Amino acid sequence: MQKVSIVFHSVSGNNYLIAKAFYDSLKNRNIDVNLFKVRDDDFEKLANTFEFAKKYKDEIMSVSLYDFNELLDSDAIILGSPTYFGNVSAEMKSFMDEFADYWPDAKFYGKKLFAFACAGTPEGGGDMCLNAINIFGQHLGMFNTPIPSNLLEGISFPAYGLLHYVGDNGDIRPDEKVLKAIDKICEILCTQK
Ligand SMILES: Cc1cc2nc3c(=O)[nH]c(=O)nc-3n(C[C@H](O)[C@H](O)[C@H](O)COP(=O)(O)O)c2cc1C
Repeated sequence: MQKVSIVFHSVSGNNYLIAKAFYDSLKNRNIDVNLFKVRDDDFEKLANTFEFAKKYKDEIMSVSLYDFNELLDSDAIILGSPTYFGNVSAEMKSFMDEFADYWPDAKFYGKKLFAFACAGTPEGGGDMCLNAINIFGQHLGMFNTPIPSNLLEGISFPAYGLLHYVGDNGDIRPDEKVLKAIDKICEILCTQK
């Protein structure tokens, strides 16, 4: 695996922090890596609504929008979304729907896919958000990379993606354990055949 593109949607910063941790870990492993966000016309308005969301507003605004040429050139794509009503956000879904242009010629066939998501609470359907990302990838012929928790130390996620609970107020940020797991996931993604 030589080139990876990470694409995220984030309003209050949690998915951004996870995306950035993937970016930093892959960069440290000498992977050619892109960090992209999806289009979100309401972002600035929404991010200004909550005090804790404002913290990463400027950083998120400075991230480049996805570029399909870069995605096509990547060996792996890492996608992260907030869970909105047990699914990906509308912004992530509109990004996914743009792949329709690349489906007929199977342009994404054979690329690796890794999914991550944030959700408010464990009963909030975050696993269905991960599932939506993985099903999307399967439609395009991408290979989900399962990482069972027994390969990670001291933290448990579904085997089909990383899921972080942000709490009812959305302000439980990914901690050291999550960041360490992300680093381990990157090690596995880089060494796996
Ligand atoms: C419109 C909306 C719908 C949401 N629906 C759910 C949900 O169904 N389940 C859940 O656990 N959390 C839900 N949440 C909480 C978000 O998943 C959480 O705030 C988000 O993942 C935080 O990600 P971010 O910090 O990257 O923006 C919802 C939040 C919003 C704004």
